[in-house]
Amino acid sequence: MAGYEDLIGREDINDLEAILSVANTDTTEIVRAVRDNADAIFTWDYEKGARPALEKLYEKAKTSQWNGETDLDWSIEVDLESVVVNNFAQNAAPGGAGFADFEVAGTPFETWTDQQWLDLGVESNKWMLSQFMHGEQGALICTAKIVETVPWIDAKYYAATQVMDEARHVEVFAKYLDTKLDGYYPINTHLGLLLEDIVNDSRWDMTYLGMQIMVEGLALAAFGFMHMMTTEPLLKQLLRYVMSDEARHVAFGVISLKEYYEGLTDAEIFERQQFAFEAAVRMRDRFMQQEVWERMGVPVKEAIEAVMLTPTRQMFQMMLFSKIVPNCKKLGLLDRNDAWLRRRFEELGVIQFEDWVDTGSEYENFALTDEELAPAS
Ligand SMILES: [Fe+2]
Ligand SMILES: [Fe+2]
Repeated sequence: MAGYEDLIGREDINDLEAILSVANTDTTEIVRAVRDNADAIFTWDYEKGARPALEKLYEKAKTSQWNGETDLDWSIEVDLESVVVNNFAQNAAPGGAGFADFEVAGTPFETWTDQQWLDLGVESNKWMLSQFMHGEQGALICTAKIVETVPWIDAKYYAATQVMDEARHVEVFAKYLDTKLDGYYPINTHLGLLLEDIVNDSRWDMTYLGMQIMVEGLALAAFGFMHMMTTEPLLKQLLRYVMSDEARHVAFGVISLKEYYEGLTDAEIFERQQFAFEAAVRMRDRFMQQEVWERMGVPVKEAIEAVMLTPTRQMFQMMLFSKIVPNCKKLGLLDRNDAWLRRRFEELGVIQFEDWVDTGSEYENFALTDEELAPAS
């Protein structure tokens, strides 16, 4: 296998020791400063609608705003333990379960009690939602950066609506974790490194590629999976509302980059392919949820080796890429430069999604219905 030292800091994408050697060592940190190397761009071309697809998205966003305080039913009581028990019964929710189909013999889980399994489900849920919240803050910051750096007025207008959307998403995940689940996990290091890479980069399109295509593409798939699996009505409603926005955000990335990438050279495209691969690996690494295993007091490497290889878990890991791969294909990133990114997605085991629907226009299907928009109480 080709060496990836320069791209992801290790030779082998599956080197577990190397993945786990990167960890969040300062979990009490409150503020983190990250260098943004991009120029702020003014444009004096105010012609609205020069890019009709972006204008349409902007108009749609203006009439799709919701209020996390009043549109969600916060009176719903959440008993996470019984949610986990229900999810176990369904045997597949990310974080909640999906662990029921592996052989415990010879693993650290051999002697586990029912209570320990329940605790694992509770912690995994908290961990997953905490990373969603941190990712939402990443989106808030990245989209504010796009307002500054993108040269097109239609894109600046649209990005401004997304900044508001992301503020609302951070707000509702934070409120859910604080008032329903009593607290959150610090940011996972692999996710943090990815967000820092995106903010550091000086090229305006890299913010879109890292955030709208990779992070939000993964989030849209993960939210969809969790929305389908969870039996908790408040979380289900919250995810439904957030997804209606996320589908627009991914479309924003696809529409903007499609135009821009058509004009790039092979060498420029190669840098984008490498960036997309690096982001994909970092996101896959973070779903090993190493912080949860640490909190549960099991040997992290052995736990991951035992759990991550189960069919349910592997299916979930792959599903996370079900939006990313077709969107990369639509942008022309898979097959340029001798199909470099296609080969990498083959190695990651996710190329089978290439012909799934892309998200350039799919957002219309995610719009909230009048019934869903009726006040919660
Ligand atoms: Fe969001
Ligand atoms: Fe978003």
